[in-house]
Amino acid sequence: MNYWEDPGPGCGVLPPRAALRSDAPRLSLNGQWRFRLSPSVGATGFEEVDFDDSDWAWLPVPSSWPMHGHGSPAYTNQKYPFSVDPPYVPDENPTGDHRLVFELPSEWSGSTVLRFDGVDSCARVWLNGVELGVTRGSRLPAEFAVGGVLRPGRNVLAVRVHQWSSGSYLEDQDMWWLPGIFRDVTLIARPVDADVFVHADYVDGAGVLMVESAPGAVVRIPSLDVVVPCGETVTIPGVEPWSAEVPRLYDAVVELPGERVELRIGFRTVEIVDGVLRVNGRRVLFHGVNRHEHDPVFGRAVPAERMREELLVMKRHNINAIRTSHYPPDTRLLELCDELGFWVMDECDYESHGFMLIDWKGNPADDPRFLDASLDRMRRTVERDKNHPSVVMWSLGNEAGVGSNLTAMAEWTRDRDPSRPLHYEGDLSCADVDVYSRMYASHAEVEAIGKRAEKPLEDPALDARRRSMPFVLCEYSHAGGNGPGGLPEYEALFDTYERCQGGFLWEWMEHGILRPDGSYGYGGDFGEELHDGTYVLDGLVFPDLTPQPVLAEVRKVYEPVRLSVAGDVLTITNRYAVLDTSHLSLHWEIADEGEVVARGPLTLPVVPPGRSATVQLPDLPPLQNRERWLTIRAVLTNNTPWAPAGHEIASTQSLLTTPTDAPAPRPGKQPIRQAEDLVLGSGRFDGRTGRLVGLGGWEVAHVPLELWRAPTQHDARTWDASTLDRKARWANAGLDRLQYRTVSVDAAGDELTVVTMVGAAATDARVLTTYTWRTDGGRLTADVEVEPLGEWKVPWARLGVTFGVPAGFHGLTWFGLGPGQAYPDSRSAARIGRYTSTIDDFQIPYLYPQENGARGDVRWAELFGTAGTLRLTGAPHFALTVRRWTTAELAAAEHPADLTPSDRVWITLDALQHGLGSPTSGAPILPPHDLQPRRHRFRFSLG
Ligand code: GAL
Repeated sequence: MNYWEDPGPGCGVLPPRAALRSDAPRLSLNGQWRFRLSPSVGATGFEEVDFDDSDWAWLPVPSSWPMHGHGSPAYTNQKYPFSVDPPYVPDENPTGDHRLVFELPSEWSGSTVLRFDGVDSCARVWLNGVELGVTRGSRLPAEFAVGGVLRPGRNVLAVRVHQWSSGSYLEDQDMWWLPGIFRDVTLIARPVDADVFVHADYVDGAGVLMVESAPGAVVRIPSLDVVVPCGETVTIPGVEPWSAEVPRLYDAVVELPGERVELRIGFRTVEIVDGVLRVNGRRVLFHGVNRHEHDPVFGRAVPAERMREELLVMKRHNINAIRTSHYPPDTRLLELCDELGFWVMDECDYESHGFMLIDWKGNPADDPRFLDASLDRMRRTVERDKNHPSVVMWSLGNEAGVGSNLTAMAEWTRDRDPSRPLHYEGDLSCADVDVYSRMYASHAEVEAIGKRAEKPLEDPALDARRRSMPFVLCEYSHAGGNGPGGLPEYEALFDTYERCQGGFLWEWMEHGILRPDGSYGYGGDFGEELHDGTYVLDGLVFPDLTPQPVLAEVRKVYEPVRLSVAGDVLTITNRYAVLDTSHLSLHWEIADEGEVVARGPLTLPVVPPGRSATVQLPDLPPLQNRERWLTIRAVLTNNTPWAPAGHEIASTQSLLTTPTDAPAPRPGKQPIRQAEDLVLGSGRFDGRTGRLVGLGGWEVAHVPLELWRAPTQHDARTWDASTLDRKARWANAGLDRLQYRTVSVDAAGDELTVVTMVGAAATDARVLTTYTWRTDGGRLTADVEVEPLGEWKVPWARLGVTFGVPAGFHGLTWFGLGPGQAYPDSRSAARIGRYTSTIDDFQIPYLYPQENGARGDVRWAELFGTAGTLRLTGAPHFALTVRRWTTAELAAAEHPADLTPSDRVWITLDALQHGLGSPTSGAPILPPHDLQPRRHRFRFSLG
């Protein structure tokens, strides 16, 4: 059997141990290596010390080689990109040979290991021509003892990396296939068997410490005056506990023979009590994200600065938890999580999702040939990461079905580290785990689970066991493209049911890959014969870490302090587990029609976690006949390691007054016929169709009714294969190809009444649309009434009207929700105000173009530019999109660069919109955000 197809773990690799910072001499072998890529496995010989590699390419290590022009990235979600015949892989197995010549410093001494922190997917390693062994388990470290082979002076390291191996069957995560030595390579002069296992509990206000290590070793915590032999348990009074909210770490050292290990100890106890997961006695609410390791330029070799930046962006958006989907991350990430404060679910590098497509036949998770490899992966995960206080749960892996190997992994973990609960979502019986977890359960199902009233398992004992567990959503609210909606409703369930301890949004980052033309590629852009297209674009942040609009929604929904106003009283509810509110300050602001008229500070009482308090609001300036809003914000009083003083943590807005209704337009003018046209005030209408063709001096295009939008990624997918997605249903119903038939155009008195029948070919579903135009001499006002006729079998994407105006508008000011977009089911973060933007900045450049950028509840908007000023008002309020391309052009584009400005600006006023939802992954869109065809009336004015 070829070694890369051996289903066992690697060979020649040392037993796993903790990733430790120590003063042991280290030599980083990162840098430029010689590299040769072959399409399949060829002869060796390159490992010889005097092999001539001068005609090989140079490649940085760490790296994912396809990101450097060798081969191509390839994306599949569940499908294995090779025939499913475990443990075998095709002959076409891209193989990268790597060589590095390095000098060992003359002072180097001691027993030495060669450590690889991550190689995808299988590596065979030689030092100075001597084979050290083979490693699999891409996102896991491997150490080789090199004492006998390392030479003073010149050394030659040779590594052969195969893209495919038996390990690939256990690494079928939904992400790019990116082979390479993608994490650090280091020589470390440390004893091969030295390890440290910190047990640091927090019990009854004291730290309870026991450090396992070499006999005779001593642990010191200078700031606590603790000096204790390893192996002994000591109780330390007065210790501050570690939590994601207050990540208190104590610097410690362990003196081992030949090395001094530096630790950062966090005291904390994770327990499940009465069916609730508690840390240090407090119920934890996971406001989490699933985080893959991805960089748009470097692939899986993520620079350390970027990891920190990712975590800072998360902290600034009230995210407090990370599931390391679906493999252990770079260990530096966990160090940062300890330091900055995150609850981490650390997941083993283990997924065999592609077997689902063949009914789980031959699943390696249930194949004894893969038992040792399965255990090896779990051991390497736990041993590497066991000292991180941030890790509060182990996860056996993701979507690997059920099987005896998973049970064995669970048993080993429970035995090795009973201090952390076990998680695995793939086995609904939860037989091996401590936490009930689901992905993409609907709101209704989560509610049932919250009541411990979920559908029972067949086995009553297992059912009772599962029913007594805490519940988390290891994935929820898929963020593919524009969306998801429905977050506040999930949050309300987490607040209502103690058992529902939050979840982890899918997912943190879009995995776009930067291409030479500056655009981001997704599945299918790299010549893959099998791929899953845009499904790899499903993050809360763009690949460059710029937040997508939904991240503002996340921040608002996850706010750890809730503010609400009733009358002249503000209520503050502290949702933190540990922190009181003393780190926050309150500010209020009054704005009349978006213009700030008064502001000031407000005293915030110290509210303990889990409690509420009220504050009397100050006297406000006298009311005007204008729409008045009060905004209150809770901000950080002082700088923190992750955000400056003044950073907003929570906010609320409340309406204080609405102006008395504007009088209906007083008839100023009557429609008059001019040649083929009808003229009403500033408006010119086509005399035959009744459509607006001119306004003031501008040529206008007018679409009397729109029911379609450029489908979002969620519109274009469905979870349930037996139903069509919305995009297809809308296309079948012809919403994207409506036809318009003028029924009547009547100029009578001071009104112009235009009746249009709107419908699509091959269906009787129609909408009778009646416009009644009037003018007071200045504004042109339309009262619009729509009435669905015939049989409608699909919801509408929107109910709107569109105008094309000259391209000479470049910006707009609006009074309504902003500054970001707002859709019916994703609008928590938007606040009523007066905002200004350019038309270009009004767009959200989703990597796959789709409906985007609608501002909600707009009262009025003014477009401006060389063309002049155009004012739009609506009653009731409308949603507004303004674009330099049509909806059809937006829908046809595959990348943002396909969108080129036309000779018009297209304005759509939506009286109603369909929500965004998150149906890509199961949860149905909540009514009333599902826009069912209905009678509706609305009014808007132009002028
Ligand atoms: C889950 C899976 C994730 C990702 C997600 C996308 O089934 O665990 O890795 O594929 O679906 O919706």
